[in-house]
Amino acid sequence: MLIEEDKSLKLLNTFGINAFAKYFVEIDSSDSAQSFFAERKFNSEKRLILGGGSNILFTQNFDGIVIKNNILGIEIIKEDEEYVWVKASAGTIWHQLVLYAVANNWGGIENLSLIPGLCGAAPMQNIGAYGVELKDVFISLEALNLESNQIQLFDHADCEFGYRESVFKNKSKNQFLILSITLKLHKKPTYNISYGAIETTLEHMKIMEPTVKSISDAVIQIRSSKLPNPAELGNAGSFFKNPEIPKEQHEQLQLQYPLLPSYKGTAFNHLKIPAGWLIEQCGWKGKVVGNTGSHKFQALVLVNYGNATGDEIFKLAQDIIASVKEKFGVVLTPEVNLV
Ligand code: FAD
Ligand code: EPU
Repeated sequence: MLIEEDKSLKLLNTFGINAFAKYFVEIDSSDSAQSFFAERKFNSEKRLILGGGSNILFTQNFDGIVIKNNILGIEIIKEDEEYVWVKASAGTIWHQLVLYAVANNWGGIENLSLIPGLCGAAPMQNIGAYGVELKDVFISLEALNLESNQIQLFDHADCEFGYRESVFKNKSKNQFLILSITLKLHKKPTYNISYGAIETTLEHMKIMEPTVKSISDAVIQIRSSKLPNPAELGNAGSFFKNPEIPKEQHEQLQLQYPLLPSYKGTAFNHLKIPAGWLIEQCGWKGKVVGNTGSHKFQALVLVNYGNATGDEIFKLAQDIIASVKEKFGVVLTPEVNLV
């Protein structure tokens, strides 16, 4: 197994931050992962599992070993009249799994089209978009326990999914290498088109009867018009989570800001507020700060205009948090994993 030293991660994170890893290794099978961790050679080093690098901000060089997940493959493990159970290895590109499902007319993940990154990271924050989350189709995952070097099976409940949350971001942080995920997809799909602009986009596309394919196409169209393409402008999607605030606080804020948008929250008696709106109201939208800024079409997306360091983007994020707190009394928390 090739261990690289002092490896630039610039092409391995969608922010395009030129951070360096002390050591770097690529894993291409469960067996090679197990033999790598069995050696215990790098036991004393800090470890970071890297997927597509689309939800990470390197604020400094990584003084340890980066393990790049490259385990590929998609297989059907079970099917009946109505459903198919699909297992995807962690290194599979998420959107390729979506396209595979779309090509077979299997419903469930079409609303999650074009989310960057790899399947192994999808459970990390329970990826979500356009009214669907991974948890809606998730059955189980296999993960390597980095301490015992044994493979463990996690079912739905074990993963403790929440809005952009899972057990892997919380109490089991940095303890597992996710090897594969298994999803249950519908052979006779029902559709979820009520969210955002899907319905109107389908109308523009002159689609009368939605299909898995047309919904996927609509989502791709909406996303491409809103979100900057990381290949052209470094970013990691939404930098912050949409905050949930108690209903009473929302009522108070609405007295001062009658246009404050809100959605149903996940916690009891809470409402979700779009962080993009709060950030825009604070005057950040489209603002360029050195090599960084908040995107001109989507205030929630922080961007790298070229040579930004992770620290510069982190500093911008801190300033945004402070101004939103000062104006609205709401504290934004990063969605992006800070390293
Ligand atoms: P990485 O960034 O490589 O890693 C993310 C975290 O997971 C890190 O902490 C890493 O250590 C850990 N990790 C990665 N792989 C494994 C593994 N196999 N085992 C254990 N830990 C692992 N997200 C959404 O939810 N919805 C969206 O609509 C969305 N839109 C986006 C749009 C753009 C333009 C971009 C750039 C990002 C967007 N994201 C969105 C965020 C991102 O695409 C997802 O979070 C994605 O799942 C990250 O996958 P990755 O492979 O790039 O993970
Ligand atoms: N808004 C503004 N100004 C902005 C941006 C947004 O006022 O600059 C307000 C508008 O009121 C708009 C609302 O925010 O109606 C919602 O905006 P949008 O539909 O773009 O969605 P979002 O809440 O900003 C969330 C996810 C995205 C996901 C989309 C679609 C989070 C943190 N982000 O964004 O996920 O793709 O919904 O479902 O939940 C990601 O996680 O990286 C990500 C891109």
